[in-house]
Amino acid sequence: MQTLTLIQPDDWHIHLRDGQALATTVPHAATSFNRVICMPNLVPPIKTTAQAIAYRERILTALANADISDTRKSAFDPRMVLYLTDHTTADDIATAKSSGIVQAVKLYPAGATTNSADGVTDILGRGAVFESMQKHGIPLLVHGEVTHNDVDIFDREKRFLDEILSVIIKNFPNLNIVMEHITTSDAADFCLAQDEHIAATITPQHLLFNRNHLLVGGVKPHFYCLPILKRESHQKRLLEVATSGNPKFFLGTDSAPHATHTKENACGCAGCYSAVHALPLYAAAFDGVGALDKLENFASVFGAKFYGLPVNTSTITLIKQEQTIPQSYSYLDGKTLTPLLAGQTLAWSIQ
Ligand code: NCD
Ligand code: ZN
Ligand code: ZN
Repeated sequence: MQTLTLIQPDDWHIHLRDGQALATTVPHAATSFNRVICMPNLVPPIKTTAQAIAYRERILTALANADISDTRKSAFDPRMVLYLTDHTTADDIATAKSSGIVQAVKLYPAGATTNSADGVTDILGRGAVFESMQKHGIPLLVHGEVTHNDVDIFDREKRFLDEILSVIIKNFPNLNIVMEHITTSDAADFCLAQDEHIAATITPQHLLFNRNHLLVGGVKPHFYCLPILKRESHQKRLLEVATSGNPKFFLGTDSAPHATHTKENACGCAGCYSAVHALPLYAAAFDGVGALDKLENFASVFGAKFYGLPVNTSTITLIKQEQTIPQSYSYLDGKTLTPLLAGQTLAWSIQ
């Protein structure tokens, strides 16, 4: 049986949510990942360092109560992110830096995605905050889509690169920026054209699927996430750069739980839940293009290097053995959570 032992990976983009959700999401994430970058788009969002510290405590309480090994418990390390708003100040950034637990600041253009109503309306007007982040070495994580109603949903990422991101980079050339969950060849090529301050995360769904999976033969709501899946040529380019060995591209699952009934709905929520199977999903994607030898750096090395953190010392072993992904997990109070590829067979498993 083929096996693949990797340095323990980190997830540089995950949504754990809050409250009762943590009982499901935290043990799932901790199964595979050591450090996880916890997205701050809660209701209400994590806007201050004090809120980030309190949120981290709630995650650690859920971890303590989880039914997982003590080894995994002690390895799991949630890293916090502040949600940038129109009111974030340069002082907020200084406070975040001195806390030692805030790893980054997240930019959601207002209205771009799930729980982004408090996001930034005048992005280029946030210069003082970007200046402070640049000075303190705090990375900016971006959900890179414009939100104007007149822009086609399939063009929103490219328009963000041209109209917003290129201006931020020009004005703040030493600001570290992660283009989160990139979905197009345009974003991949844009990232490649920048210096080492600019990197990108790629999700398993954007490597494995394209918009046909979402739309052909009926709408499949569990493939609906933002930025939306694009055409196959974009999927192929993402696979190319993810498996190229270029350190600008690394793992960020964007695992984003929504209760099943809120996705299988006339106005379904955006987000794919992949936390438990993310690593086997990435393995399937890399294996599909004969690039399993490139998985370890993508999953476990390049992200840590970008964030200036040590690479993990433990390992995880994948085995090429079929598993069936569960139809659902119990979630919140009597609800269910449907994972990406629920009920389907995956070629890889975690040993
Ligand atoms: C994410 C969520 O549900 O919080 N949804 C998604 O479709 N990706 C938000 C995000 O990362 O944009
Ligand atoms: Zn996003
Ligand atoms: Zn996300």
